[in-house]
Amino acid sequence: MLSITPTLLLAAAAWLQTASAFPATTPDSIIGGKPGSGATWQGQKYVKIVVPPVQSDTGIKLIPDAQHPFVAPGPNDQRGPCPGLNTLANHGYLPHNGIATFEQLIYAVGEGFNMEHDLASALSALAILGRGNAYINKVSIGFASSEVPPLPGQIDGPTAGGLGKHGRFEGDVSQTRFDIGEGDYKNFQNELYDEFLTYVGRYGDDSPVSGNASVVTVKVMQEYKYHRFLQEQANDPNLEFSIARMIISYDEAAFVVNFFPNGTDNIIDTYTLGSFFRNQTFPENWHRRSSPGDFTFIQTAAANILNAHPLVPGTNQKGVWTPDAPLNTGSVSFTDVHLNIMQSLSSSLVQTEGLLRDNVNTLLQALAKPFGVDYTKVPPSGKPGQ
Ligand SMILES: *[C@@H]1O[C@H](CO)[C@@H](O)[C@H](O)[C@H]1NC(C)=O
Ligand SMILES: *[C@@H]1O[C@H](CO)[C@@H](O)[C@H](O)[C@H]1NC(C)=O
Ligand SMILES: *[C@@H]1O[C@H](CO)[C@@H](O)[C@H](O)[C@H]1NC(C)=O
Repeated sequence: MLSITPTLLLAAAAWLQTASAFPATTPDSIIGGKPGSGATWQGQKYVKIVVPPVQSDTGIKLIPDAQHPFVAPGPNDQRGPCPGLNTLANHGYLPHNGIATFEQLIYAVGEGFNMEHDLASALSALAILGRGNAYINKVSIGFASSEVPPLPGQIDGPTAGGLGKHGRFEGDVSQTRFDIGEGDYKNFQNELYDEFLTYVGRYGDDSPVSGNASVVTVKVMQEYKYHRFLQEQANDPNLEFSIARMIISYDEAAFVVNFFPNGTDNIIDTYTLGSFFRNQTFPENWHRRSSPGDFTFIQTAAANILNAHPLVPGTNQKGVWTPDAPLNTGSVSFTDVHLNIMQSLSSSLVQTEGLLRDNVNTLLQALAKPFGVDYTKVPPSGKPGQ
């Protein structure tokens, strides 16, 4: 005979709660089958991911507003390789602890930098899929955090990593971090920033306010990015500069010239540059750009920066520069960039079903949208835990 013990009652109550909150699903432990169909899974609680509506307030404005003063990060707050996201977290546009959802990332880059909705959605989707947990809808903008456990079953490796983990999101030839194959790839480097400033000094525009040769221009980025590539090609024996990383690396430069200028006069001077890169705070009396910066805009700017010194994607193999074979058609296109991103994301993401698969599909669709790719035709094909 079965006796009703308190433990059994508790278990029954928990099961009833789960069942009534999500009547259409059953925990995996009960039905078996592929991972991801239940509302709870190995102690994690499913959170449905929804692409938020397009923000309607997209004009110029003073950032930060009174509700978002700078608060320095504490020892347990996550900060990572992206000065823009770090700044947003320091001002509370993102959660101050540096752990964010898909929707929070889109809101923050839209509100703080006027990044257009589809571009913001694609980048945020890559963040959650590649370096976060798509079952609980969280990613760390820094490094591994107990608040973002790996996907249940560790189907994409034993850690979610956070955006700072090398690969997928963080990559080589960045502006103010060394490559992972070379040194400290996590933290802002004074040495690199000082080199950046010498390029402003050599190629920058004059300003009556901030001084001669103090304004960051496209020319500055053309020369500094090329310099950084040559530097890492020589110094990083494992340089990874395949098509996706090459384009995203140049996008990072395009972000600087398109999202960091003061929206009122469109100028990014060394004071503003230092405020973002060095202090990770919005400059005094700074305005976000006056119209949303979208994918086309960024790719055009990135192409403009790259075209001054065109490069072929490739890698250093034990220190020997090795150009990549063309991925698709022989001529590099955005679908190659999308395909290369998919080659870095784990194929296990699409070996799931149910609720997790719903989230994965939502994110894959958001990621594919600016590329004009049908996400069902080009699924993630990479190794788990990369
Ligand atoms: C800036 O450059 C202009 C033109 O070359 C020069 O006349 C001026 O003295 C310079 N200003 C400073 C502060 O060096
Ligand atoms: C960065 O912060 C330091 C220390 O608070 C300050 O002295 C400096 O002026 C700031 N620099 C910029 C560019 O905001
Ligand atoms: C932005 O431009 C406005 C108008 O020219 C100016 O008052 C403000 O000081 C500028 N802010 C920064 C950070 O350069």
